[in-house]
Amino acid sequence: MDLAAPFAGLITTVTLVATVFYMNGYFNQKKFADLNNNTDANEGLDPNGPDVQFILHKRNSSPFNLRLHDQNKFDKSKFNITAPTKIIIHGFMSSIKQEVFTLNKDAFLKTGDYNVIGMDWSALCEFEYLSAMRGAQIASQYLVEMVEWLVMQGVSLKDMHLVGHSLGAHVAGMAGSKLRSGKVSRITGLDPALPGYNERGPHVKLDPSDAELVEVIHTYMKILGYARPLGHIDFYANGGRYQPGCPDIYDIWKIGESLHCNHARSYQYFAESVVNPKAFKCTRCVSVEEALGENCFEETDIYLGQPSTYRSGLYFFRTRKTQPYAPPP
Ligand SMILES: *[C@@H]1O[C@H](CO)[C@@H](O)[C@H](O)[C@H]1NC(C)=O
Ligand SMILES: *[C@@H]1O[C@H](CO)[C@@H](O)[C@H](O)[C@H]1NC(C)=O
Repeated sequence: MDLAAPFAGLITTVTLVATVFYMNGYFNQKKFADLNNNTDANEGLDPNGPDVQFILHKRNSSPFNLRLHDQNKFDKSKFNITAPTKIIIHGFMSSIKQEVFTLNKDAFLKTGDYNVIGMDWSALCEFEYLSAMRGAQIASQYLVEMVEWLVMQGVSLKDMHLVGHSLGAHVAGMAGSKLRSGKVSRITGLDPALPGYNERGPHVKLDPSDAELVEVIHTYMKILGYARPLGHIDFYANGGRYQPGCPDIYDIWKIGESLHCNHARSYQYFAESVVNPKAFKCTRCVSVEEALGENCFEETDIYLGQPSTYRSGLYFFRTRKTQPYAPPP
């Protein structure tokens, strides 16, 4: 979610707070058994319906709606099948008009001639959280079909990178596990959603088997974000629990701002790591508790967002309170 102004988000805040307390405390697997069912159900997908849109963004050209299975449109698009493809997936109550998309799209296009696709599934996640969780499963089916269709056009899975925030991280994970033609090369999970997902099996949430490389940034764990590792490599920004410069969660007047700020930092740090590859140098952690306590001292040459430097495990990095978030060298 992206709350533009503190008061614009009042209803969102109430919904979220209720969701957090309800879902984190009382989520019951039996009651929501259907949410554990991730079998293929493609019959209902309407490629031209409003449910999910895939909007292609390229350097020097205007946004283009890639319609699933529309060969004519695809041929007219500026999609470059030999360039890497980034698919960005927003979270609950968000859309590709929000910062989660614009910030990362701009970061990618500044650094490479990528095909950047904004996956807009806002129609499936705009009301309450439980239906958004069901929406996430439907959205993941659309994503599977889009990726498979791009593969048919000649795009290599090696060039495919899915970036998902919050619920969008699970959309990416569920899609990754259902692809028929193989695994995408990389999934980036940005503070993957916790509410409702803690008790669920790996086939309905992000897990390391969903892509060749699954990397995760934790910024607001135990509240909106998932705490336990979900990837090959998991980054706990400033410990993963609270982010410096964000309002305190216990300040009742700033609760909405606090929720948004801490959760949003995951994509803000990631976008910064795209344009500044040496922004966030990491130390290695033995456990989540060690990260939380900021007790990770083992030096590494691992930088957030730079897979060529990665070794699997848990990592810690520090940020500044304001943009640019990279600490001084
Ligand atoms: C899972 O979904 C499929 C397809 O929608 C359905 O046929 C099946 O009965 C479901 N299974 C459970 C356990 O709900
Ligand atoms: C397509 O992408 C490749 C690899 O990035 C690049 O070499 C080529 O120039 C691009 N083609 C066009 C038409 O932009």
